[in-house]
Amino acid sequence: KHSIYLCRHGESEHNVQGCIGGDSELSARGKEFSRALRVFLEKQKIPDLKVWTSQLRRSIQTAEELCVPYEQWKILNEIDAGICEEMTYEKIEETYPNEFILRDQDKYHYRYPGGEVSGNRNNVLRDESSGVLTRRSRVFCAIALDVLPRMMALDLRTEHLALSTERSYQDLVQRLEPVIMELERQGNVLVVCHQAVMRCLLAYFLDKSAMFLYHLNQSLSSFPADDLPYLKCPLHVVLKLTPVAYGCKVEMFDLKV
Ligand code: F6P
Repeated sequence: KHSIYLCRHGESEHNVQGCIGGDSELSARGKEFSRALRVFLEKQKIPDLKVWTSQLRRSIQTAEELCVPYEQWKILNEIDAGICEEMTYEKIEETYPNEFILRDQDKYHYRYPGGEVSGNRNNVLRDESSGVLTRRSRVFCAIALDVLPRMMALDLRTEHLALSTERSYQDLVQRLEPVIMELERQGNVLVVCHQAVMRCLLAYFLDKSAMFLYHLNQSLSSFPADDLPYLKCPLHVVLKLTPVAYGCKVEMFDLKV
């Protein structure tokens, strides 16, 4: 029987300042969490534990402290807040009041507007000689990112373009599919990730429990997308998910850092 352990990285400098996104380092308290996590894992005595992180510094630094090998997954990176990256929620509300309201109205589907696309792999869109995006391509990318549906952007086979559209919870859920499939196949894994990513992973496994209830005729067909972006995933709390018949058991460990 294996378990999946989920947690966010330790508190980062941006967390302290209340800024979202970015790639800041751990705060002193965040480093303390990493050490507490190491002690916690040692006490749990988990055989053959694999540790996965994102490619962001706060997640890698958390895993570093565990003194075990770990694997970095780019697709575990946090939701991309586009033009709102590294702002506080207050600043976003002040600068982009409409965006703030729109997100509040439909947090699952809301996609942050993107910044400028810096490059992509599609030769058609590149200036052949310099490899730099032409002005026309830039305009095209901007339109593709904000107007065309995601599938069309993918059809253009512009990998960067596709990655850049992961600015909503709905996008994230799609992006995380390979990680989820791998988690289902693996033994014991600890995923050190981020708030939005952890919500999506958790929702997937909670959904399996909901399916279980459904089979028992006790209501619920699937986990509502409306609730997913509000799942409580605080810093410094580890969730242990253990598959049981038709669902999964959830245990919560607050490391009290
Ligand atoms: O604040 C930490 C953070 O991980 C941000 O990087 C991210 O944008 C945010 O949480 C996601 O949470 P929410 O969807 O509630 O804004």
